Parts: sequence; C-alpha cells; structure tokens
Amino acid sequence: MTNKVERHPARPIYPTPAGLVASIDSEGKPNIMSVAEIFNLSIGDPVWIGISIREATYTHGLIKERGEFTVNLPTAAMLKKVLGCGSCSGRDGIDKFEKYDLTALPAKHVAPPIIAECPMNLECKVVGFHPVGDHDLFIGEVLVEHIDEDALDAEGQPDNVKLDPLLLLRGGFWRMGTKI
Ligand SMILES: Cc1cc2nc3c(=O)[nH]c(=O)nc-3n(C[C@H](O)[C@H](O)[C@H](O)COP(=O)(O)O)c2cc1C
Repeated sequence: MTNKVERHPARPIYPTPAGLVASIDSEGKPNIMSVAEIFNLSIGDPVWIGISIREATYTHGLIKERGEFTVNLPTAAMLKKVLGCGSCSGRDGIDKFEKYDLTALPAKHVAPPIIAECPMNLECKVVGFHPVGDHDLFIGEVLVEHIDEDALDAEGQPDNVKLDPLLLLRGGFWRMGTKI
C-alpha cells in the first residue's frame, strides 16, 4: 500500500468550475467577477447554489445591496476572459464587459444581466448569507437556467462536451476529460 504524506490543506475539494458572477450597482451599471468557490447546495426543490466571496471585492457589496446575481458558466476557451475578470475590480470604474469583450443580455427575473458568451446562465435571488472563515457565503435560489440552443444534444438535453466547462483543480485550469 502507498504511504500517505500529510499536507496543509488549501482548496482541498477539487475540481470546481470557474464561473463569472454578474451583479449591478444602484445606477444600473453591471459588474463581473470570476468565482471558483461555487457549489450546488440544494439540487432539486428548491435549487440553491452557493458562492463564496471575499468581503473586499466590489461584487460582495453589490450583491448584499441588491440581493440578486447571475452565475454564468464559461467554456474552457474563455480562460483569458475569466483571468481578466478576476484580476481587476469594478470598484476602480473598470467596465469589464467592455474590457473583456463580453455582452450583457437582460435577465428575465433579476436586474443583473446574463453574459451572452457563456453557454449556461443562472438567474439567482439571495436566500441566505453566512460568513464562512475567510469568505462570505451567498446562497442563491436559481430562478431560471438559460442555455445556448446549440449546446443541447439531439434529445434537447445539455451536451456536456459542448458546454466545455472551465475547471479549477488545485491551482491550475483544466478542461473536462472523457465520460465514463
Ligand atoms: C479563476 C478565478 C477564480 C476566483 N474565485 C474567487 C472566489 O471564489 N471568491 C473570491 O472572493 N474571489 C475569487 N477570485 C478573485 C476575484 O475574481 C477578484 O478579486 C476580482 O477582481 C473581484 O472583482 P470585483 O472587485 O469587481 O468584484 C477569483 C479569481 C479568479 C481569476
């Protein structure tokens, strides 16, 4: 049997998807932030997801104020945009939609927009907030899911290969392997 080595844990659950979270300020200007601490919490009825966000981010205050956000799941090919949206702050007046060539589409039930270039978009209303160590957990009820028509298979179901999710795995980025 292989010997086990003890390590100090850091982001110990892997992989997680990278998402782009859109929020909006009181004047209607939207912002985007990259988020990899993103979880399914209640999967059927209701559908609740969690995102863990540091208080220092601009997005944190916007979501706390408005109580709404969208989660947009990029493809692996969008890595550069995800790195960009996670490396500067809307607080500094940066329009990340313009800077990273992303398109805001109106959502149906919430004020923050969805991001057209992401094949999957979730409209979320905040139903819970909990400080969790070095992040704060926002729990969002998913009111509706939007998916690109061309990311559906012949049966009208999401095609995971076409969704091509961007995965964060112990500090590095990966794309999905094969179905088993
Ligand atoms: C791939 C990636 C994942 C990230 N995940 C998170 C996360 O889950 N929580 C968090 O607080 N910050 C995360 N960040 C950092 C924020 O995206 C970053 O601080 C961003 O500039 C905040 O933007 P804002 O100030 O406009 O809200 C991540 C960054 C990258 C590149």
